[in-house]
Amino acid sequence: MIKKAVIPAAGLGTRFLPATKAQPKEMLPIIDTPTIQYVVQEAVDSGIEDILIITGKGKRAIEDHFDRNFELEERLQEKEEAMYWEMRKLSEMANIYFIRQKEIIGLGDAIYYARQHTGNEPFAVLLGDTIMDSVIPVTQQLSDIYAQYHSSVIAVETVPADKVNRYGIVGGKSISDSILQLDQLIEKPSIESAPSNLAIAGRYILTPEIFKAIEETPKGKNNELQLTDAMLNLLKTENIYSHTIEGKRYDIGNKLDFLKTTVEFALRRKEFADPFYQFLQEIVASHQANSDKN
Ligand code: G1P
Repeated sequence: MIKKAVIPAAGLGTRFLPATKAQPKEMLPIIDTPTIQYVVQEAVDSGIEDILIITGKGKRAIEDHFDRNFELEERLQEKEEAMYWEMRKLSEMANIYFIRQKEIIGLGDAIYYARQHTGNEPFAVLLGDTIMDSVIPVTQQLSDIYAQYHSSVIAVETVPADKVNRYGIVGGKSISDSILQLDQLIEKPSIESAPSNLAIAGRYILTPEIFKAIEETPKGKNNELQLTDAMLNLLKTENIYSHTIEGKRYDIGNKLDFLKTTVEFALRRKEFADPFYQFLQEIVASHQANSDKN
């Protein structure tokens, strides 16, 4: 059973400027809940008890979010009992620890900060700007596969050919409907050099041997120490598997995805579903009428 998780959340969020100039992209809310809270919830729902969040400069709001706020609690206790308990639950979701990445020099370097925390245990990695929506939490899906193979497992999803250059791409031999035994991992390849269109989707289970592999990995794409390259190194000594996720991935660091996620999640919320749906219909109708005129 995987009990520890690492959530890298140190990135600068340049794709979401100006919103991320003075606040972490992981705190961008989908309706009323910061992205990273969905990520922590997925970890907790997957049986994780202990979470290390890799932060950096300008990420203090993440620490405050999972901490207690006594002044607020006191106020809520008098007037809003339900929200008071929600805030108490939020600060007790898991054992959450923080460490700061000193320099933003790649995902591989960020993960390397976890080596003392995770010790000799396999651990999950959940990217802090990616929400997964699935019946069985994606980290749980990976954890189940780890229990079977005792090797690192990476979540992947199929992407269109013209988008393979935005992701880490894997290749390998199929051993079941959803699982490949990997022989290739390339960070952001061109279409011509991509071994498949299976993209690394931001969830991993890694064995502790990854740390030695990271030490032996030089900087790669964009002059950053890439986790994908370190996993390719790890492949020399261990098997690695990929699992095509059952579920949907939302990349919150991307503005269009962020908008789509907000709309989808709002339509699922009881208190918004009907009025928001009606609003969307009106907006679409008036947008259509306008474009018919032009
Ligand atoms: C990172 C990983 C990449 C993965 C992607 C998923 O890239 O390096 O392999 O496919 O996350 O979101 P980034 O988006 O940080 O450039």
